[in-house]
Amino acid sequence: MKFSFPFFALWCATTAMARPGGSSLDQRMKQRTHNLQQMHSAGGSKPASNIRTAGSSGPSIQVPTNETAVLPNENGSATQYYTTNWAGAIITAPPTGETFNIVIATFVVPIPKPPVSGPGTWWGTAWVGIDGFTYGNAILQTGVDWGVEVFADGSSAYGYWGWYEWYPAGWSDFTFEVAGNDTIELVIEAPSASVGLASMSNQRTGGSVSSMLKAPSNSSLLAGQNAEWIVEDFSSGGLVPFADFGTVTFTGCTAEAGRTVVAVNGTTASTIDIVNGTTKVPVTKSSFPATDQVRVSYI
Ligand SMILES: *[C@@H]1O[C@H](CO)[C@@H](O)[C@H](O)[C@H]1NC(C)=O
Ligand SMILES: *[C@@H]1O[C@H](CO)[C@@H](O)[C@H](O)[C@H]1NC(C)=O
Ligand SMILES: *[C@@H]1O[C@H](CO)[C@@H](O)[C@H](O)[C@H]1NC(C)=O
Ligand SMILES: *[C@@H]1O[C@H](CO)[C@@H](O)[C@H](O)[C@H]1NC(C)=O
Ligand SMILES: *[C@@H]1O[C@H](CO)[C@@H](O)[C@H](O)[C@H]1NC(C)=O
Ligand SMILES: *[C@@H]1O[C@H](CO)[C@@H](O)[C@H](O)[C@H]1NC(C)=O
Repeated sequence: MKFSFPFFALWCATTAMARPGGSSLDQRMKQRTHNLQQMHSAGGSKPASNIRTAGSSGPSIQVPTNETAVLPNENGSATQYYTTNWAGAIITAPPTGETFNIVIATFVVPIPKPPVSGPGTWWGTAWVGIDGFTYGNAILQTGVDWGVEVFADGSSAYGYWGWYEWYPAGWSDFTFEVAGNDTIELVIEAPSASVGLASMSNQRTGGSVSSMLKAPSNSSLLAGQNAEWIVEDFSSGGLVPFADFGTVTFTGCTAEAGRTVVAVNGTTASTIDIVNGTTKVPVTKSSFPATDQVRVSYI
């Protein structure tokens, strides 16, 4: 779930910027693929239809010539960043004298589509969190992964998993029922730099779950410098094949720093989008449809 940002890595050459690979994320892929295959042998699951608007129009923003391009955010005075794995919005600094301790949003879980025809498996995730952008030592985050597998016989299986993580420690799955088109509220709270609470609830089922986390080490305490609403092409060794997620709109976006509630819009928050690291073509388009809403579309 770690952000990988080439130009930022150059600025902070002394900061450990290694992407998580290793066993835990590889295991995530294996476990998730196994689950999809089980679903397939159980007859697969059908996607709900009609909720998706797969973007087909080109980007209205200037196409970056490389993934380090930094442009004005079209909804305000903040910045538009590009990366290979994060899309959405980031408040890059808390109000003076405060640190972020609460980040919240609600979103409808997308039903992923393969970006190309033929068999394969594609993934993605949406989460909210604190830190990991200008402050790279830690990320406290919770979100929902999705995956779609298309089999040689043309049938498909879909999988969805709620999870939480205090980077650089690995992710853990919640025991939590979630499916495509469910409306999920994600909540991250950090009462102190070393203790966090990750929670999610599902409007369809009425279910909710939470987990208290501790900083994995004294070098991964939270600094409360960044608040994030992100759709990610996560890593497992390298970036996993990225599903067409249509549109994810985070609503009720809340960022609190001490007693200050910070509005989330193009004045206060930067947008970030994914470009294909090889072709440099933008893959997502993020914007603020209104204050406290962040929309991320696959293009
Ligand atoms: C998605 O969920 C909403 C309620 O949250 C429901 O009105 C709609 O019919 C659902 N769409 C599909 C395709 O299941
Ligand atoms: C990448 O884009 C940045 C920002 O526009 C620019 O400063 C830099 O020279 C570009 N690098 C390459 C290798 O094109
Ligand atoms: C962002 O929200 C603040 C506080 O509500 C408001 O003053 C500002 O005008 C908003 N900016 C945009 C671009 O909507
Ligand atoms: C963090 O530092 C405190 C005080 O220096 C120490 O008591 C504690 O054991 C350390 N915790 C970890 C996880 O290293
Ligand atoms: C980038 O685009 C190339 C060519 O279309 C494609 O093969 C590759 O999978 C894409 N990379 C990612 C990370 O989506
Ligand atoms: C932000 O930009 C998007 C894309 O141009 C636009 O659709 C949306 O209305 C803008 N939001 C605001 C609050 O101006």
